[in-house]
Amino acid sequence: MGVQRGTASTLTRAGSPAGSRDATVGDDAAQALGLESALARWIRHRERSLLREMVTVVSQPGILSLAGGLPDAASFPRDEYAEALGAVLAEDPRALQYGPPVPRLKEHVVELMRWRGVECTVDQVVLTTGAQQGIDVATRLLLEPGGLVAHERFSYTGIHQAVGPFEPQVLTLPTDLEAGLEVDALARALEAGRRPRFLYTIPDAHNPLGTSLAPERRARLVELAREHRMPIVEDDPYGLLGLDGEGFAPPLRALDDEWVIYLGSFSKILAPGLRLGWMVVPAALATRVSVIKEAGDLESSGLTQRAVARLLDTGFLAAHLERLRAIYRRRRDALLLSLERHLPAGARWTRPGGGMFVWVELDGGGEVDGGGELDTVAALRRCVAEERVAFIPGAAFTRDPHDGRQAVRLSYSTLEPEDLDRAVAVMVRYLNPNLNQPR
Ligand SMILES: Cc1ncc(COP(=O)(O)O)c(C=O)c1O
Repeated sequence: MGVQRGTASTLTRAGSPAGSRDATVGDDAAQALGLESALARWIRHRERSLLREMVTVVSQPGILSLAGGLPDAASFPRDEYAEALGAVLAEDPRALQYGPPVPRLKEHVVELMRWRGVECTVDQVVLTTGAQQGIDVATRLLLEPGGLVAHERFSYTGIHQAVGPFEPQVLTLPTDLEAGLEVDALARALEAGRRPRFLYTIPDAHNPLGTSLAPERRARLVELAREHRMPIVEDDPYGLLGLDGEGFAPPLRALDDEWVIYLGSFSKILAPGLRLGWMVVPAALATRVSVIKEAGDLESSGLTQRAVARLLDTGFLAAHLERLRAIYRRRRDALLLSLERHLPAGARWTRPGGGMFVWVELDGGGEVDGGGELDTVAALRRCVAEERVAFIPGAAFTRDPHDGRQAVRLSYSTLEPEDLDRAVAVMVRYLNPNLNQPR
């Protein structure tokens, strides 16, 4: 497989209500308020996100869901964390006090980065309240109002949320489903004089695509960043969840310690409820990055930082990661097998090296309700209502809700193989009612 979609890059303005049939401008309740006109302009004109609407649809009780992006709750290290938390609380009342970042946790982050193939120092580490805060802080560090930001056509929606207040221009880049971000398209845009304030990208286990950037593209991308003085914000929450062989190739940060701002997270390797992550930035920027972060929350929970540091002191993480990889490997392989079994000829999908997501592109010839083009948004609504099976339409990951309607993102993180197979079999009937031939 391997499809290359959208070979040309496009330049559009974020927040434009153009072409958004499903998106409602503003919120009905807010519009009824006199206060509406007092709101900041960007939020007044903010479209309701398709993803949010879809999440409401798919999170009804009793749904067999390929939709969620959640890690497997049964794998959270509850007992180990409870023990670490209890010890921290028992030993020092300052665990509940305001306080600076916990140095021991930064040391652990330096070690985790080493596992990822990156050499860095504690003075380059800024602890965050999750990778999402890292995206927000990096955006506020780099973007000017109305400035140009570059990201992929299908991308984690947290970047759209972070840049929204800046009402930026957006350079949308295509992604090759086998080799990742189309670095050539970026090079052409740069050569044509485009100057993004930064590029946001997820080089490994891309959300939503499941792709990883080919090693030769990593080198080229970093060269472009240096040559054109364009910072890269590298989001790597799944980097330690490589499922094959040695895991993922070293991240971009391993190739450059000046132009790459790295974002890591404990959400997928421990638990998202901890709300803890980190940034690796040039040491000379660390203070300014911390100032921006402090404007949001003063500091990430000191109690959680201490408890996580204590948990990592026990040396439990290496074995825990192995357990997680075994769970996700089994489920990924099962989902891929089910796709092979149930999807019709003409469908293409990614084979992720890790993380949680598989991206499926259906043949445009399929029809829903016997009329019009295949529309995965309409198919989802029917599939949930009639069969209680959910997936996420690709359109949820674009800025244009009409884009990506022939694609879906599937998550294998929370279902066992039998349920994955049942969910895929049902989903395929809705995605492809007229072409339901086995491959
Ligand atoms: C690519 C990507 N970045 C960031 C996040 C947010 O992570 P965190 O929980 O660390 O804020 C997610 C969560 O799913 C994600 O998929």
